[in-house]
Amino acid sequence: MSAFPYILGIESSCDDTAAAVIQNHKILSNVIAGQKIHQSYGGVVPELASRAHQQNIVPVVSEALKQAGINPKQLSAIAYTRGPGLMGSLLVGSSFAKSLSMALNVPLIEVNHMQGHILAHFIEDAGNKKPRFPFLCLTVSGGHTQIVKVNNYFDMEILGETIDDAAGEAFDKAGKIMGLDYPSGPLIDKFAKEGNPEKFHFSKPKVDGLNYSFSGLKTGILYFIQNETKKNPEFVKENLKDLCASIQKTIVDILMEKLLKAAEQNNISQLAIAGGVSANSEIRNRLKALQENEKFEVFIPKFTYTTDNAAMIAMAGQLKFELRNFSEITEPTIAKYPI
Ligand code: KG4
Ligand code: ZN
Repeated sequence: MSAFPYILGIESSCDDTAAAVIQNHKILSNVIAGQKIHQSYGGVVPELASRAHQQNIVPVVSEALKQAGINPKQLSAIAYTRGPGLMGSLLVGSSFAKSLSMALNVPLIEVNHMQGHILAHFIEDAGNKKPRFPFLCLTVSGGHTQIVKVNNYFDMEILGETIDDAAGEAFDKAGKIMGLDYPSGPLIDKFAKEGNPEKFHFSKPKVDGLNYSFSGLKTGILYFIQNETKKNPEFVKENLKDLCASIQKTIVDILMEKLLKAAEQNNISQLAIAGGVSANSEIRNRLKALQENEKFEVFIPKFTYTTDNAAMIAMAGQLKFELRNFSEITEPTIAKYPI
């Protein structure tokens, strides 16, 4: 047996089937099979996602082991996403992980997907430096928008969260209104690069405390585009880049305002971002700009570790392995799993 254990991470909470091998906090392989099938539906179709996971899980895990240069018998533990996510999707990864841990007679480690996003910051090659506790993490994905106070690896408090849509959903729904494919976040990001963020103004929600709301913005965008399209059927086509830049700026403004408020209220100057929306170039730039005023220290994950991946699950698994925090095979998956 190697001096440092090899741990396999499996992620299947939404529409990506992913597997990764970690050793001593370094990622040896990180394999992801995306699912193009949802593109034209404007969102993930749960039934189709589960079926695709079934097809992908064996080849993805085999490839992750191959790229890591190990055979299954060298694994010391299997970590998997227990939730939150789509139940049918979670069941594929969890059942596979449980079977493999039984077959190999190695410990099973359950991981909370949202904690995984945050713990990706501790992967050895994740970026430059690692945050120190406590720090704040803005966790923004297709299903979640949370400001999390991270007191320790597995001691996290939600200071604020969305009361309706998630930030990723705001991107995806705005994209759908404009006729873009799912997921629209990366497309809006791309078109926004050549657009004018000041061209269109959308009203921002007024929500108490550190919570967020994005459903009003979605309705505002829908009515605005419907109205303009009545006057000019080519409105979206002619203004796509400016629309994308303006929508992106509004979403990022909303996100940043509460994050800064949380930092001030909690007197915490270390700010991190995580989750699919943290791949967004505007939010990354805004955080980098904060670093320049020296009041803040910011932590921006490597691009590969922003959207769903199994490296983050393997990382969380490694940290739990060190704590000997193992799971029972009888533990069910949890669709709504609090952080
Ligand atoms: O974390 P993630 O991969 O899956 C969930 O756990 O939900 O996040 C997916 C979300 C989608 O809503 C997608 O549109 C958004 O992240 N996203 C982006 C970008 N890349 C992915 N949103 C804005 N800009 C991006 N570059
Ligand atoms: Zn995610």
